[in-house]
This record gives sequence, structure tokens and C-alpha cells, in this order.
Amino acid sequence: MPNRANLCLIGFMGSGKTTVGQLLAQKLGWKFSDSDREVELLTGLTIPVLFAYYGEPYFRFLETVALRDLTARRAHVIATGGGAVLTPANRELLKGSGPVIWLRASPEEIYARTQTSHGRPLLETVARRERIAELLAAREEAYASLCDFALDVGALTPDEVVMRILSWLNGRKRAGKEGVTGCC
Ligand code: S3P
Repeated sequence: MPNRANLCLIGFMGSGKTTVGQLLAQKLGWKFSDSDREVELLTGLTIPVLFAYYGEPYFRFLETVALRDLTARRAHVIATGGGAVLTPANRELLKGSGPVIWLRASPEEIYARTQTSHGRPLLETVARRERIAELLAAREEAYASLCDFALDVGALTPDEVVMRILSWLNGRKRAGKEGVTGCC
């Protein structure tokens, strides 16, 4: 049953969903949840181990289980894994859960942000730059069609991203659209 009581962050790996989500939750006085962390809590396994031993399809199944739980909560900022939007059931869950915000970044920005990071199985390749471009191209339409608000985050600090999201939410509230309470 949709409750529209949360706020969901979507976007590619490295777009800042976790950092921004935590800051945003603080500002709103809400809780923060992350679908990847939820999958890890459910299984007691890390994402790289899940991918390596059980494969991506099993991870995707668990991601939906996690999102079903998270989206049923209230007053949560929910950060999703970058590929969550690929699963139709996840898109329905997110859409029904509250405003969906896309943290958008170019392939070059993503590459720069993830260059030295590990723990993302889909980026563990020597051709990381090409992999990012390929995955992003395949996902862009899903991000674009699902989001209520797309924000280019490339040149912004996490605090600036949060300020932009808060002002978008306030504008929405002023316009009489379903709002988010506790918004400063
Ligand atoms: C994935 C993104 C990751 C994680 C998994 C798969 C993807 O989350 O869910 O490694 O398919 O883009 P982040 O976007 O938080 O890195």
C-alpha cells in the first residue's frame, strides 16, 4: 500500500546518495536507510561477497526484499543502490513511497568520484571508464522516467545538494503538492 511518506534518492554509483541522504535525513529530522546496507544486514554478507558467491540476480532479489521493507516505513530518506531502478517492482515501490530524486552525474564525474574506491563489483574491471559509460547509458532512461526531480550534482558539495533538495521540497509544499513535513 503506497504511503508517500518517505523520500527516495536514486542515481548511479558514486553520485553521493549515501552522504547526501544522511545529511538530508538530519535536516529533516528523519531516519536514513540505505538499501545496500539493508541487504548486508539481512544476509550478514557484504555486497562483493554476495555478487561473487551468489551472483547478481540473487542480489537483485534481496534488493527488492529490502526495498519492500524500507518503503513501507515512514519519514525515512531512502538511498538506493545504483541499479535498483532496473527492477520494475522496485520502481513501483519507490514511486509509491514518496518523491524520488535523481542525483545526476556525467560518466566523467562518476569516474573521478569512484576512481580509487572498491567494493562495487560492477566497477571492478580494468576498463572502469568504459564500464561506467556503458552502464550509465543503459540506465539513464530508467532514472529519468522515475524521478520527480533531477539534480546535477557534479559541481556541488553534499551540503549544496541538500540545500537544493530542501528548496525543491519547499517549493513543492508552497505549490500545494504533497509535501514533506519537518522540512527547514
Ligand atoms: C550497484 C550499485 C551499488 C550496489 C551494487 C550494485 C549498481 O550501490 O547496489 O554494487 O548496480 O549500480 P551504490 O550505488 O550505492 O554504489
